[in-house]
This record gives sequence, structure tokens and C-alpha cells, in this order.
Amino acid sequence: MVYLTRKEHFNAAHRLYNEDWSESKNLEVYGKCANANWHGHNYDLFVTVKGEPDESGFLMNAHHLSKILKKEIVDVLDHKNMNMDVPFLKDVQPTSENLVKIIWQKIQPHLLNCKLHCVKLVETENIFVEYYGE
Ligand code: NI
Repeated sequence: MVYLTRKEHFNAAHRLYNEDWSESKNLEVYGKCANANWHGHNYDLFVTVKGEPDESGFLMNAHHLSKILKKEIVDVLDHKNMNMDVPFLKDVQPTSENLVKIIWQKIQPHLLNCKLHCVKLVETENIFVEYYGE
């Protein structure tokens, strides 16, 4: 089994806030990410596919994978407010945990000859989230 990873990058703004909670509980749970006037993160997205190389010697053309990621994810999220601008994030708390699960759903239908293995989203130097589809 061979694993191929493509990295993409985007910047996006969000606010993590639950309207059913008090201001203090939001601050306690979400910290700076609850800031009322938004803030941004520089996200690095790593998408790993797995399978066996075909007669071309490729598992999947990495440029083609990049095109899928750009069309489905990066072009939709980059320089956007994730709470307000992105239809598929409507009513979703835009945490990295929720983002990786949604990114998985958006990408999987476009992979024909290999399987999605991992969606990894790096939110800060010290925090990243991984999803393996289960
Ligand atoms: Ni944040």
C-alpha cells in the first residue's frame, strides 16, 4: 500500500461561539476563538490518499489531487469568513475538528482509483487535527 500526500494552504476567518451559552462559558470553552469581531488562521491542509500505483507508476496524479482540493476546498474557504461566507458550513461550528470531517465528505466522491486515508488540518504551530474517516 502506498500513501500519497498533497499539501494546500488557505487563510480563513472564524468565530467559535455557541449562542445557547453565556458569554463567560463561550470564553471559557473557546478562548480567543470566541472573539466577537472575528480572527483568522493560516491553515495548512494535508490530504493523504492510499492505494497501489497503476501502469503510469502513479497512485494518483498529485496535480490532479491538488486541482480537486483547490476547487472543492481552497477556492471556497480562502480569505473567507467561515461563519458567514461558506454555504457548506452553514450551521456548523467552524472548528478544525468539524472542518476535517466536512473536507473528507467533499473530497471522497472525486477519488476514483485510490482511497482517501487522512485529512489533516494544521490550525496553528502547535495544534492540528486528523480524520481517518471513522
Ligand atoms: Ni480560531
